[in-house]
Amino acid sequence: MLVVGSGGREHTLVRCLLASPARPRVLCAPGNAGIAQDATCVPVAVEDVAGLVALAQREQVEFVVVGPEVPLSLGLANQLLAAGLPVYGPTADGARLEASKTFTKQLLLKYRIPTAAAGFFSEVAPALAYLRARPVPIVIKADGLAAGKGVIVAQTAAEAEAAVRDMLDGGKFGSAGRLILIEDCLVGEETSLLVVVSGRDYVILPTAQDHKRVGDGDTGPNTGGMGTYSPAEVVTPALLARIDREIVAPSVAAIAAEGMAFCGTLFIGLMLTADGPRVIEYNTRFGDPETQVVLPRLETDLLALLWAAARGQLAGFPLAVRPEHSLCVVIAARGYPDAYPKGDVLTLPPALPPGVTIYHAGTARNAAGQLVTHGGRVLGVTALAPTLAQAAALAYAACDAVQCASKYFRRDIGARQLNRR
Ligand code: AMP
Ligand code: GLY
Repeated sequence: MLVVGSGGREHTLVRCLLASPARPRVLCAPGNAGIAQDATCVPVAVEDVAGLVALAQREQVEFVVVGPEVPLSLGLANQLLAAGLPVYGPTADGARLEASKTFTKQLLLKYRIPTAAAGFFSEVAPALAYLRARPVPIVIKADGLAAGKGVIVAQTAAEAEAAVRDMLDGGKFGSAGRLILIEDCLVGEETSLLVVVSGRDYVILPTAQDHKRVGDGDTGPNTGGMGTYSPAEVVTPALLARIDREIVAPSVAAIAAEGMAFCGTLFIGLMLTADGPRVIEYNTRFGDPETQVVLPRLETDLLALLWAAARGQLAGFPLAVRPEHSLCVVIAARGYPDAYPKGDVLTLPPALPPGVTIYHAGTARNAAGQLVTHGGRVLGVTALAPTLAQAAALAYAACDAVQCASKYFRRDIGARQLNRR
């Protein structure tokens, strides 16, 4: 097998695939220092579609699992399928559901899937006229991929106007921001739903909640995600049934009706508003760090699940989920999501208690062979335990035992659910 990517999500995928009774040989491109301890890493970049296809052919790979969105939107799955290689991850048309926010909004509106009202603009004057007619706060979104930074939740009209001008006139986010969405602000709790999709068939994975802001108490700038837990008990079984009926089933049906033969993860970002669940966005891949808490809760063989999706045999696939709670604390390099140091030596605890796993994200080896930081999000310290409080205690004890000069992490992952009890 070949796993494409280099983050905590991919380390989790590699670990869970290696745990399969099928005992696969696993390659990862490009991987990281932690993945290299479990699998063979090959230095091919995720943007190098031709290089990845050549690697898969050369190594006689039988199945490719793609982690990040960029190679999917570049058509990696198309190229692999054209070469006769089974792949988990959508072709470029499906990846557009993440790569273009206006494309997705049009699909949501066309199929009446609950989402925030929005207008589409490529010119400043009509955008400002639309803004004047809407209340604040209001959300301004660049159409294209902007590494999670192309969304401004404007609290004032002046902030909203500045965001519109920055994107449409100022070239902020480059071509990703030449087309924008102005969207009503949704109020409520956010939750992430990962759905394994194969055409018209789908399996909903265990619920999870992310913590997107960098600081405790949900303060500071948005990040890729600072920590997660699963299950998200705010999504009760009754609410999950409603989300399935009103959002998941219609989304999968709409994607199929539009002619996308979607095979991969549909990650539905949801806002649980007072009026019901609303779609914030789709992603077309596993979440990071949602994967780190969702996959360890699967009793089901992950390889069998993803293979069934890739072969069009997902209908009726039985999913078995462990009752334990899982929680992941992301250790980042201080300064992330802005500038941060690289190359700081990392010392991990020599032994971990049962239930604790440290997934690597931005890690590498220096010339002396030492483990060093190599990205903004460095590690995903994850624990699985009978209660969320126990999982949090185990994960935080392990975080405290990690040594690194630039170590930063949130202290309140899971607090919302723990305090609700
Ligand atoms: P996105 O890239 O679409 O996930 O947006 C990034 C973050 O912005 C989301 O995770 C939400 O926290 C926030 N956001 C996006 N759209 C809205 C909205 N319509 N109302 C409130 N918050 C939003
Ligand atoms: N954790 C949010 C994401 O993967 O986009």
